[in-house]
Amino acid sequence: MKTNLVLFLAAGILSLSACDSSQTASTTSDSTSTDSISNMIPSKANYQDTIDGKQTDLFILKNSNNMQVAITNYGGRVVSIIVPDKDGKMTDVALGYEKVSNYQNEEGVYFGALIGRYGNRIGDAKFKIDGAEYKLAANNGPAALHGGPTGFHTRVWDAKMLNDYTLELTYVSKDGEEGYPGNLTTTVVYSLTDDNGLKIDYTATTDKATVVNLTNHTYFNLNGEGNGDINNHILKINAAKYTPVDAALIPTGELKDVAGTPFDFTKATVVGERVEAKDEQLKLGKGYDHNFVLTNADTAMKQAAVISSPVTGISMEVLTTEPGIQFYGGNFMEGVDKFGKGGKAYPFRTGFCLETQHFPDSPNKPAFPTTTLKPGETYKTTTIYKFAIQQ
Ligand code: BGC
Repeated sequence: MKTNLVLFLAAGILSLSACDSSQTASTTSDSTSTDSISNMIPSKANYQDTIDGKQTDLFILKNSNNMQVAITNYGGRVVSIIVPDKDGKMTDVALGYEKVSNYQNEEGVYFGALIGRYGNRIGDAKFKIDGAEYKLAANNGPAALHGGPTGFHTRVWDAKMLNDYTLELTYVSKDGEEGYPGNLTTTVVYSLTDDNGLKIDYTATTDKATVVNLTNHTYFNLNGEGNGDINNHILKINAAKYTPVDAALIPTGELKDVAGTPFDFTKATVVGERVEAKDEQLKLGKGYDHNFVLTNADTAMKQAAVISSPVTGISMEVLTTEPGIQFYGGNFMEGVDKFGKGGKAYPFRTGFCLETQHFPDSPNKPAFPTTTLKPGETYKTTTIYKFAIQQ
C-alpha cells in the first residue's frame, strides 16, 4: 500500500476541515435500530461528487433482518457490510473508506472494488487472441494486475436502485481501454437477500473477442473492521488443489495437491496457524495470496469457502459459479494512511479477500478454463457472500 505523501497530506487536511460537518462511521452498534445502523455507514454526502463528468453516490441496500450494505458506484465498491454478531450487536465486517476521494487516491489496494476487465494477474502484461497480441500496462512488477491502473475499480458506473435491496451497475469499457480489445458492456447486480446473502451477478458482452475475469475485492474482517488482524479466523476452502506461483505471482501452470501443505484448508483451520510455516509458496506470496482450484470446478453454484471469527461468531459462506478462488490474507497491507472508516488505519493482515475467479494468467495458459469471450456470447457468473452466526 504505497502512499503518495502529497495526496496523503492534502486528503488529511481536507478530512480535518470536513470533520465537524461529516459524520464518522463506527464499527459496532449495540442497538439494532435502523438509525443506529445508519450511523455506522459513512454519510452519503461524503460520496456525492462528480467524477469524470458522472455523479457518484452511496447506495444503501437493506433486507428484512436489518442487515445493511453500502455500495458506491465509484468503482462499484462495497463500502460497509453491517451484520449482527452472536450477541446481536451490529458489526461492520467490510474495510472501507470514509469518503469517495479516499478511493480515488488509493494505490494498489482495491478496497471493496469491482475488478475488471481481468481480475488477478496476466503474466508479462500481454496475451494473444487468434494470433493478435495485446499489450497491457505492467502495474505489478512485470505483470498486469486487476484490469490495469484505470481498471473498473476507478470507473464511475451507471447506477440504478431496482428496489430497497438491489443495485444495478453498468459500465461500458471502450475497445482498446487498458489495452483490451472490444467494446465490453458489463452489468453487475448487487442484491441483499433475506437470508443475509450479498449476491453479485455479473454479465458482460463484447463486440470483439476479448478476455474477461470479473470479481469483487472486498476486504473482510469478521472480528469487525479495524478490530485487529484476521489470523484468528477459521477457514475452510473446498479445494484439493491450488495453483502455485513464480516470483511474479504468476501460476506456474501446475495444479498442486494441497494435502500435506499449509494450503490444505479442506478441514476448517485457523488462518494464522501455518501462515509463517517454512514453505516456498508462502514465502513468494508473503503469506496466503493464491488461487485455489475448487472441487467441482465447473459452472454450477457451489460452496467455495466458509470463514468465521471466534470473537464475534460471525461466519461467511462463499458460494460461486466460478472455478477458482483467490485467498489473499492482506499481506501487502501497511496501514500507513488513516482513511479508513472512523479515521482508522488498516495494518498488515487486518483484512482478507476471497476473490472468486477464473485462474490467474488464463489467457496465457491454454490448459486453464478459458476466459475468452466472443461476440454473441454472454459472460455470466454469480457469487454470494452469505453471513450467519457460527452454531
Ligand atoms: C492480489 C494481491 C494484491 C492485492 C492488492 C490481490 O487480489 O492477489 O497480490 O496485493 O490484490 O493489490
